[in-house]
Amino acid sequence: MDPRPGGAPTVLRMVLGRPPRLSTCTAHAPRSTRLGTSRSSEATTDRRTALTDQGFPTAEIDTSRPHPARMYDYYLGGKDNYEVDRVAAQQVIDLFPDAVPSALGNRAFMHRAVRFLAESGVRQIIDIGTGIPTAPNTHQVAHEVSPDIKVAYVDNDPIVATHAGAHLLGAGNTGFFLADLRDPESILSHPTIGRLIDFDQPVGLMLVAILHFIRDDEDPAGLVAAYRDALPAGSRMVLSHATADFHPPETGSGDAIDVYRQSKATATFNLRARAEVLGLFDGFELVDPGLVQLPLWRPDGPAPAEQELARVGIYGGVGIKN
Ligand SMILES: C[S@@+](CC[C@H](N)C(=O)[O-])C[C@H]1O[C@@H](n2cnc3c(N)ncnc32)[C@H](O)[C@@H]1O
Repeated sequence: MDPRPGGAPTVLRMVLGRPPRLSTCTAHAPRSTRLGTSRSSEATTDRRTALTDQGFPTAEIDTSRPHPARMYDYYLGGKDNYEVDRVAAQQVIDLFPDAVPSALGNRAFMHRAVRFLAESGVRQIIDIGTGIPTAPNTHQVAHEVSPDIKVAYVDNDPIVATHAGAHLLGAGNTGFFLADLRDPESILSHPTIGRLIDFDQPVGLMLVAILHFIRDDEDPAGLVAAYRDALPAGSRMVLSHATADFHPPETGSGDAIDVYRQSKATATFNLRARAEVLGLFDGFELVDPGLVQLPLWRPDGPAPAEQELARVGIYGGVGIKN
């Protein structure tokens, strides 16, 4: 259950696609500041030290520009966002109401895919682009299957770090650090990865709703390949990626992504067609049902209705490294 006031949205909202209520709450600033430290610092498992030992300056929480993590939090009905995020996210929803069911569908896919990883024997997960904690988080889903699963969370947004201590860190088998997907070396060589991940055993790599924040000139396929090459055979990759394939221009999807650019959000949004997303799985064999619209990926219940499918503009899949 989501412990935050307002709670997590229900599946009903996914169907109805109602925009989340406009939150009046302000995101929490970090309680203490350590100046001049690196962007890849680790939160510890002690809640108080986790909130004070993040090792990044408060100034890094930029409240002058919308942040994708905080906008996503708004789509999910969360309250860990600032006015600048709410304005931009609401503009997106006004232009493209399916942003909300797409975000909810993404979170539901993430839960099913983590359960699949755990049930298929994966005992260690690297979750890059964690997002602001929204229960259940990756480790909570994984631990329902097996409490010994280790999870290393990574995000480049300091606001995620401020909440990591309270919501992402468990009994020593989880960790969080700030780092950037575009710098694989700094992630793969980070001490938290060294502590939690054994690269001689299969790893679950999660790149869920993050690669559409990577521009073509930043080489998303090359980045995925850098992580893939560090993983042993039998590792799994969970990936989801936004697309315009199910939303012709008149649905407003193109206008919505322009909001990220025009509002000078910290990352732009890059929709990709199926062939491009499929290319990201190079070196992996997709498990059934392949790369599909998210609600079609191993649904818990009956096959999703047409109306639900029509509102989710994201592909998802899980691949096993050859
Ligand atoms: C849409 S949220 C997805 C959160 C979660 N993976 C999920 O699917 O529910 C995208 C997350 O990726 C993070 N992110 C975006 N670009 C990133 C980058 N270059 N490096 C690390 N994290 C990034 C954002 O801060 C945000 O938390």
